[in-house]
Amino acid sequence: MTQAVQTLPLGTPLSPSAARVMLLGSGELGKEVLIALQRLGVETIAVDRYENAPGQQVAHHSRTITMSDPAQLRALIESEKPHLVVPEIEAIATPVLEELEAQGLVRVIPTARAARLTMDREGIRRLAAETLGLPTSPYQFCDSLAELQAAIDSGIGYPCIVKPVMSSSGKGQSKIDGPQDVQKAWDYAMAGGRVSHGRIIVEGFIDFDYEITQLTVRAAGSAATQGQIATHFCEPIGHLQVSGDYVESWQPHPMSPAALQKARDIAKAVTDNLGGQGLFGVELFVKGDQVWFSEVSPRPHDTGLVTLSTQVQSEFELHARAILGLPVDTSLRTPGASAVIYGGVDTQDVIFDGVAEALSEPGTDLRLFGKPESFVKRRMGVALATATDTQAARAKARGAAAKVKPRAAAR
Ligand SMILES: Nc1ncnc2c1ncn2[C@@H]1O[C@H](COP(=O)(O)OP(=O)(O)OP(=O)(O)O)[C@@H](O)[C@H]1O
Ligand SMILES: [Mg+2]
Repeated sequence: MTQAVQTLPLGTPLSPSAARVMLLGSGELGKEVLIALQRLGVETIAVDRYENAPGQQVAHHSRTITMSDPAQLRALIESEKPHLVVPEIEAIATPVLEELEAQGLVRVIPTARAARLTMDREGIRRLAAETLGLPTSPYQFCDSLAELQAAIDSGIGYPCIVKPVMSSSGKGQSKIDGPQDVQKAWDYAMAGGRVSHGRIIVEGFIDFDYEITQLTVRAAGSAATQGQIATHFCEPIGHLQVSGDYVESWQPHPMSPAALQKARDIAKAVTDNLGGQGLFGVELFVKGDQVWFSEVSPRPHDTGLVTLSTQVQSEFELHARAILGLPVDTSLRTPGASAVIYGGVDTQDVIFDGVAEALSEPGTDLRLFGKPESFVKRRMGVALATATDTQAARAKARGAAAKVKPRAAAR
């Protein structure tokens, strides 16, 4: 089904003609989207749950609310009256977005329904596997330890992975290798879920060769498509996860023609269904020519930080252009890689040593996110590198990240 591109006239920020865009969540990914919007003269409102979030530091306006509280979210959107609301995180009172969208009061990116379906693992998994019939790991949803054990015994088997239905970045997630791990995995999931509903998904373990993020953009097509939305694909991004959290990514990741075709067919099926305009990060597992759908973010993806140095337009610029109804260019400029810089210390006043050393090698770059508080395992920055191939780029990015040494400022 074709769909007409929706455009937003670009005016002058801080005047009545301004195009006003509100980001719900203003972390490191939102910050880059905000910068891309700023460059097109969009007036931006950065919302987060805490003050001085990375994106709030670069937006025209910053607001701090509890985004999972329906009353607070509704009051803020009704008073600010943005043209577009762009969710950057999952923990949002999405029914409010659906109501406001249905009333025609605001356009939600990509759609309010997509935000609702992806806010927990159940909505999107059931859509992908049960409605669209896409290949996924075997799974069951459970509300108790007994249900978990029964699910494993009745078909999921060992090894398997337990995840809270509401969690991200690997929080509360663990692998079960045998009966001895079941109780531990259940307890860990209960402690790590974002909103403690006590519901988990247990998934059969996929012994994949590699995993990728297929960035997929629903945006204006070429002149020939006459104002209809078209689907554009970026080159596959390979990545490495440790304890469910991304530590390295690179682009392009080589794939067999058959696997690449399946990856794009899956990405197209999911993003067609979610609809609207914007960039999506479709996570896929690959073994030989077999491809499984894992999950999708209807927004820029953390592993896509690498595109800041590899693509003509980064995933953030692509998202900004797509939502404004502008043409996009998903082409690769050069192979490259990213490596995460963790806080390493718990402090409210972090200083980064070694930045000049990290940047001394040609083809390296850095983003320091400006988070007001550092934790040992908090992502505080990312090293970026380009090279003639991804192997060399990965080594360079890892080397640069290792040279950056966060420490607590002396008081
Ligand atoms: N069924 C599975 N089989 C094998 N590995 C898996 C499976 N599910 C998850 N993993 C591994 O754990 C990682 C994190 O899982 P998943 O993406 O579901 O969690 P997440 O918390 O949503 O992570 P993020 O928010 O960072 O994307 C995956 O990228 C993959 O490496
Ligand atoms: Mg994931």
